[in-house]
Formats: sequence, C-alpha cells, structure tokens
Amino acid sequence: MSLPITAKTNKNSHLEIGGCDVAELAKKYGTPLYVIDEATLRENCRNYIDSFKAAYPNSEIAFASKALCTVGISKLIAGEGLGFDVSSGGELFTVLKAGADPKKIYFHGNNKTLQEIEEGLKAGIGRFMVDNVEELANLEAIAGKLKKTANIMIRVNPGIDAHTHEFIQTGKTDSKFGVPLDQLDAFVQKIKTLKSVKLKGLHAHIGSQILDVKPFVEEAKLLLDLTLKYQTEELNLGGGLGISYSPDQKPPAVADFARAIAAVLKGKTKAKLILEPGRSIVGTAGITLYTVGVIKEIPGIRQYIIVDGGMADNPRPILYDAKYEAMLGNKMGRADTATVRVAGRFCESGDILVKEIKLPKVEAGDILVTTCTGAYNYSMASNYNRVPRPAMVLVGGGKSSVILKREKYEDLVRNDAD
Ligand code: LLP
Repeated sequence: MSLPITAKTNKNSHLEIGGCDVAELAKKYGTPLYVIDEATLRENCRNYIDSFKAAYPNSEIAFASKALCTVGISKLIAGEGLGFDVSSGGELFTVLKAGADPKKIYFHGNNKTLQEIEEGLKAGIGRFMVDNVEELANLEAIAGKLKKTANIMIRVNPGIDAHTHEFIQTGKTDSKFGVPLDQLDAFVQKIKTLKSVKLKGLHAHIGSQILDVKPFVEEAKLLLDLTLKYQTEELNLGGGLGISYSPDQKPPAVADFARAIAAVLKGKTKAKLILEPGRSIVGTAGITLYTVGVIKEIPGIRQYIIVDGGMADNPRPILYDAKYEAMLGNKMGRADTATVRVAGRFCESGDILVKEIKLPKVEAGDILVTTCTGAYNYSMASNYNRVPRPAMVLVGGGKSSVILKREKYEDLVRNDAD
C-alpha cells in the first residue's frame, strides 16, 4: 500500500496528510471526500520528468488526463511542465481552461467526433493520435477546410500481451485500439497522399497497472524498429506503469523504468520519446475519506462495515475486482481486532470497497480511509442512485482547499426536463 508521502500519525492518533488531520477534513468538508496531497503529486511529476531527462534527454511527459481531470489538478500538473494526453473534447476543454500549452497536447480516441477534431485543430494542439482510416479521412477533410495542418502520430496495435486485467489490457492483437501491424505499410502510404495531414511519429499503449518493465522494453523495441523503418521523428510509449495498491504489488522505480527504455533507444535513434503516465502520477497522491454509518454482524459469517460512499465514487472494485487497503483515520496505531468487509451504500450487492481487511474495533462515526484513490476514481465516478458526487480537496503545508465542489441535489436535476 502506498500512502501519500506526507502521511503521518499525529498526537491525537489521527492520520494526517499534507499537515491536515483527516478527521478535521471530514468535519469541515463532509464525506465521502477525495483528498489529494499536493507534495506527492508534484513529487510524482518531477520524478518522471527528471528520471526520463537523465536517461534519455530528448523526452517529454504528457499526463494521461483520463486518470484525473479537473481544472485545478491540470493547472498544477501543467505548472510542473508536463503536457497532456486527452481522449475527448471534454478533457481537451478542461486542460485548455487550466492553461495547458496546446502544443503539448496529444489527442487520443478511437472514434473522435468531427466536432472534436475541429476543436483540436482550432486549439492548435500538438498531435492527433490517429487510430483508424476513417479518422485519417476526417482529419484531411476538416484540416483542409480550416486551412490547417494536422500533425499526427499513428496509434499502432503492437500485439503485446501485458499481464494485467483483461479490461485494461489494450495492446494485444484482438483489440479495438490501433492500426494492426500488418496494415501499417498501407496506412503510412495513405498518409503520404494527404495534403493536410503530416506523419510525425508512432504511438502504442499496452495496458494499465503493469508491474513489470519487460513488456515496455518489448514495446520500445518494436516502436524503435518501426521508427527506423518509417523514418519518423517521435515515438510515444503510452502509459501503463502500475502502483502499489497492496504490499504484494511492487512496481519498478520510475528511474529504472526510464533506464530500461533508454537502453533500447540510445545510440539507435534520435527520435523524441514521449510517455503518457496517468495512474503513476496521481494514484498515490489520493486518499478517500468515508464515515462509517452501519456495522452489521452476520453471525458466523462476517461483519460488514458500511460507509457513506462506495461504487459510485470508486467503481474500480466492482469493475475490475480491484483491491484497496483501508484504515481508520481516527484510530491510528490501535491493534486490529477483526477481519471485516467494507461495503458501500449503493443498491447493489457487489458494492464492496474492500472484501477483507483487518481493522481495530469499528464504531459508527469512525473515519474510514481508502488509499491510492487518486487515479480512475473521480474520473469514473457516477451519480448512481442519484447520489451527488463527492468534493475534492488539495492539501499541503497544513492548509486545505476545495478543488472540486461537492455536488448538490440541484446539480442532479440541472439537465432534467419536465
Ligand atoms: N495512454 C493511453 C493511450 C491510454 O489509453 C492510457 C490509459 C494511458 C496513456 C494511461 O495509462 P496509465 O498510466 O494510467 O495506466 N480505468 C482503468 C484504467 C484504464 C486505462 C485506459 N488507458 C482502471 O481504473 O484501472
């Protein structure tokens, strides 16, 4: 399990993040509450930039905004010098609103709408990541109409099987993403016939929550061969590096990851290397605070600890059987007394946040904290059961500020018509 780097237990035996007591945060802002530690987020950004600059100077890091996309978060990340991978008009709109440099925006998506293509061209984004022939034709037509040039990278389907959950594997042969390797020659030839589309480089993404550098090295070798073959100037390895949700998950250090990739490329190409990490930038910076409401004992079976959030603010356990760790933020250091199950408040039996966890004696009103919730929690949150989505606060130096307001009932009906 990875706690934010500023985590400590204070004199009241409460968990403290960024100098803020979690029980006080819960009291001030209510729960469920997403808490993002500024120091961890900045440290993760700097670690990526510094590690890759040291290993392979001609490199750029673009944050995969799908992992966590709000104006405040994007501003902070842009300020650290990262670019952005966006995969929709909404993410593009958000990062532009945050002041991101359009030239450092990589526009993904396997079915971009005509409107999204136009928005990207008008904003002057750096690269369209082209996934298929239909998109190529749309880009040529719209860029021609607007008298602009679309600089593109081809998303290649590398046929690499990374060991991760099937739903978050993206680079294997049977995939909806990318141009299959055996169609690449024809694809490159087609681009050469276009007037408003210019090929800059090649991209691949092999999956997510990958804990081993080997599949990335394999991917780098493949993209290197293709870069030399098609004489392109940039190669983008996508994202995918995992984080430690639980002690058995041990991701490689970013510096080792960078050195392993650089070892493949150095001396063979001068092409620019681009990485698009999402989870490994924001994942460990986030925790979620819940209030325990109900403690239900099923004799001879188990105890359920029921909190005021669940699958709508963190859909990863129900979607991917993802494992989370939990603790009582107001009872740190107390001895565990039982193995319990942490369940959510939503109307679905599968709404379980943590299947089995040892905790000290739990009472109603306790603050239950889940860790590593910075990535793909808020970004995949829903209003299931018409429950308003939580607020998010950024903490640092003993101060907290709201970077995402808690939704109100009025927000839920804003777009409803009679
Ligand atoms: N680049 C591309 C083209 C991607 O598709 C993704 C993630 C990334 C970069 C960032 O990958 P990361 O570094 O975050 O692993 N909802 C799932 C994860 C889906 C990832 C989709 N693509 C989850 O909660 O595990």
